[in-house]
Amino acid sequence: MTRFNRRAPWSRPYGAADISIDLGTANTLVYIRGRGIVLNEPSVVAVREIAGGKQEVVAVGLEAKALVGKTPHSITTVRPIKEGVIADYDLAKEMLEHFINRSRRPWQLAKPSIVVTLPHGVTEIEKRAVEEAGYSIGAKKILLIKEPIAAAIGAGLPVLEPIGSMLVDIGGGTTEVAVLSLAGIVYCHSVRVGGDAMDEKIIEMVKRKHRLYIGEQTAEKVKIALGERLVGRHNLPRAGQGARFGLRPSENRGGHLGGSCGGDCRPPARRRQRH
Ligand SMILES: Nc1ncnc2c1ncn2[C@@H]1O[C@H](COP(=O)(O)OP(=O)(O)OP(=O)(O)O)[C@@H](O)[C@H]1O
Ligand SMILES: [Mg+2]
Repeated sequence: MTRFNRRAPWSRPYGAADISIDLGTANTLVYIRGRGIVLNEPSVVAVREIAGGKQEVVAVGLEAKALVGKTPHSITTVRPIKEGVIADYDLAKEMLEHFINRSRRPWQLAKPSIVVTLPHGVTEIEKRAVEEAGYSIGAKKILLIKEPIAAAIGAGLPVLEPIGSMLVDIGGGTTEVAVLSLAGIVYCHSVRVGGDAMDEKIIEMVKRKHRLYIGEQTAEKVKIALGERLVGRHNLPRAGQGARFGLRPSENRGGHLGGSCGGDCRPPARRRQRH
């Protein structure tokens, strides 16, 4: 069948997984073996404060994202995943449980084995939080896979071949640049900054220049619209096209939004040369 039938060290345990989850800062995707991607929703939970300082979940995913910036004081919207890792354990668990229950068919009662993607370079504590959350909602087995590998497989890159495949994954909270070959990561650098930081910079810039407050959702729409215009004007490849393109340093106009997006955004290759 496909070249993935050749067994790679990381591919062995995942053959048995029933559910794969991309637990992202901005969006969570659920893939079920035999059915494909069955859920793609924002990683947002809306909670209401109740008596005794406790919280009650009122909405999850798309419903919760629609409430961002529009809630009364008693309700807050929370993103339990930050920079690709669990930031609020209880809400992350509730969100996962909700997404899995919605994705599975009612008669699927057996405990599932679940593959969860995590950014490169996460700590043992961050890994354990994901494992514990998975087991506590009834998983039979939790398997962790590095995001660059999952992304490369998804993009159809020849990860099993002795060829260097380069991947840049800009998410909501993390950006990963990786070179893969022979089913392994040859080089990877992950910075905990992504599209959300761009949204924040747009909010700041509109506030500073126009004295106007726009919310996260509007800032995201502006960013996407600007990106689309750039893609059109410079004939750049769109996400997922797998085409190769470069940006000369003189073309880098990242300062437009008023400085750095936070974190260390220097190109990894250049940083490496300086070591
Ligand atoms: N067409 C687009 N142009 C520009 N940015 C986009 C576009 N579509 C989505 N985004 C941005 O991509 C980010 C979400 O990407 P993605 O769903 O891959 O993140 P994630 O996997 O949830 O985050 P992470 O991998 O950091 O945990 C958001 O910041 C969103 O605004
Ligand atoms: Mg991601």
